[in-house]
Amino acid sequence: MKILIVGTGYVGTTTGLIFCEMGHQVTGLDLDTHKLKALKAGKLYFYEPGLEELLSRHVAAKNIFFTKNTKKAVKENDIIFICVGTPKEADGSANLTYVKNVAESIGKYMNKSKIIVTKSTVPVGTAELVEKWVAGKQTAPIPFDVVSNPEFLREGTALQDALNPDRIIIGATSEEARNVMKELYQDFHCPIVATNPKASEMIKYAANSFLAMKISFINELARLCDDLNINVNDVSKGIGLDQRIGPQFLHAGMGFGGSCFPKDVNALIQTAKEQGQPLSILERVVKVNEEQPLYFIEKIKQALGGKLENKTIAVLGLSFKANTDDTRESPSLILIERLLAEQVVVKVHDPIVKLGSAYQYHTIEETVSGADAVVLGTDWDDYKNLDWANLKLTMKQPFIFDGRNMLDKENIVALGFHYLGVANH
Ligand code: UDX
Repeated sequence: MKILIVGTGYVGTTTGLIFCEMGHQVTGLDLDTHKLKALKAGKLYFYEPGLEELLSRHVAAKNIFFTKNTKKAVKENDIIFICVGTPKEADGSANLTYVKNVAESIGKYMNKSKIIVTKSTVPVGTAELVEKWVAGKQTAPIPFDVVSNPEFLREGTALQDALNPDRIIIGATSEEARNVMKELYQDFHCPIVATNPKASEMIKYAANSFLAMKISFINELARLCDDLNINVNDVSKGIGLDQRIGPQFLHAGMGFGGSCFPKDVNALIQTAKEQGQPLSILERVVKVNEEQPLYFIEKIKQALGGKLENKTIAVLGLSFKANTDDTRESPSLILIERLLAEQVVVKVHDPIVKLGSAYQYHTIEETVSGADAVVLGTDWDDYKNLDWANLKLTMKQPFIFDGRNMLDKENIVALGFHYLGVANH
C-alpha cells in the first residue's frame, strides 16, 4: 500500500519506518525544510535510539522518501496518516490548527478515494471534525473515510514500542476502512480493538491519563511514606506484584514530564469540563505532579540547613526521562528554575541535551566539582554507576539528592554521603 505520513516528528517518523519494515512504500510530508533536509540524508534531527539506523537503511533502499509537496503527496497515496502536533492551549485544551490545515489540504487535493487516519492524539470528536474539514475543501464529491488509530509509543523506546504494541486500536465507521486498516497491521501479533472513532480517541487519552494517575498516586503516597519512614520502592514492589495493579509506572520521583502526559491529561480534563462532567481525579493528578518538584526542593532545603541561597548545586540530567533529548515539561528543568530563583549557583550536565547556557558543563566531574550537593534529575544510565568515592573528594559537601530513586542508597551512604531520595528510606 502507498502510505503518506504527514508530520515527521517522533510519531510520524517512527510510524513511517515501521510501515517500511512491513514492506510498504512510504512518503513523509513536512513543511519544515530543515527537518526534511536531515531526513532525506537519512539523519534524524532528534535523538531516538535505534531509529536512525532504520531511517538510513530505508532511505537508501528508497522505501521512504520525504517531501514538502503536499499536492503531489496527497494525490499519489491511498492512506494518509495525520501525525502533526496538537500543542496545549492556555486553557489546557489541544490546539487542532495543524490537524485542520492538513485535513483541508487533503480535501483540496484529493483526486480519488482515500483513508485518512488520525495518529496524533486528538480530542474526542476530532474524526468528525476532520471529515467536515476535508469535505469543506473538496472540489468534487470523492468518498473518503476518517479513521482514528492512536499511537502508544514512548520516546526513548519508540522503535520497540511501535514494533511490539500491546494492542492496536482502530476506530472506524465503515467496514471497508476497518478491513483495510486490519490488513495494514496484519503482521503485528497483538490484539486489535475495533471500535468507532470517538471511543478510539478516548482510549488514547484514558490510557495516558491512567498511567499519569499511577505516577501521581505513588508520588503522593511517597510523601506520606516519607513522614512514616517507609521505603516507597518496597511499597511499589509490594503492590505492583498484584497482577490487577501491575508493576509499571509506580516508580516514585519528581513527577512526570514530556510532550504527552501533561498535555493529554489537561486536554481530557478540559473535554470533561466542556461536557459539564468534571474528572476531579485527574485534576488532582495534575496538582500532585505540579507539587512534586517543589516538595523535593523543600526536602533539599531542609537537609541543607534551611537555606539554599549561595549554595552550589550540581543537577545531573535535563531531559524529562532517560534516552531522549526532549526537555518539554521536564521536572529537572522545573527544579533548576526554582533553585535559580532561590539564588542557588546551579551547575548542570546532560549526556545529550545541550542547553547552550553558561552553567552547563561537558563532564560530570566538572559539574560536580565544588558542589554542596548533587541532584539526580534524570534517570540516565550514565549516572547509575559513577565513581562516587572520587567525586566526593571534589565536592564541598557530600550531599546526594536522588530525584529519581535510581541509586543504591546503602552503597552511597557507605561512602559517607548524606543521601536523600523520594521516600527511598
Ligand atoms: C507516554 C506514554 O507512555 C506513551 O504510551 C504515549 O504514546 C506518549 O506518552 P513518554 O511521554 O515518551 O510516553 O514517556 P513515559 O515513559 O511514559 O514517561 C512519562 C513521564 O513519566 C517521564 O517523565 C517519566 O520519567 C515519568 N515516569 C514514568 C515516572 O515518574 N514514574 C514511572 O514509574 C514511569
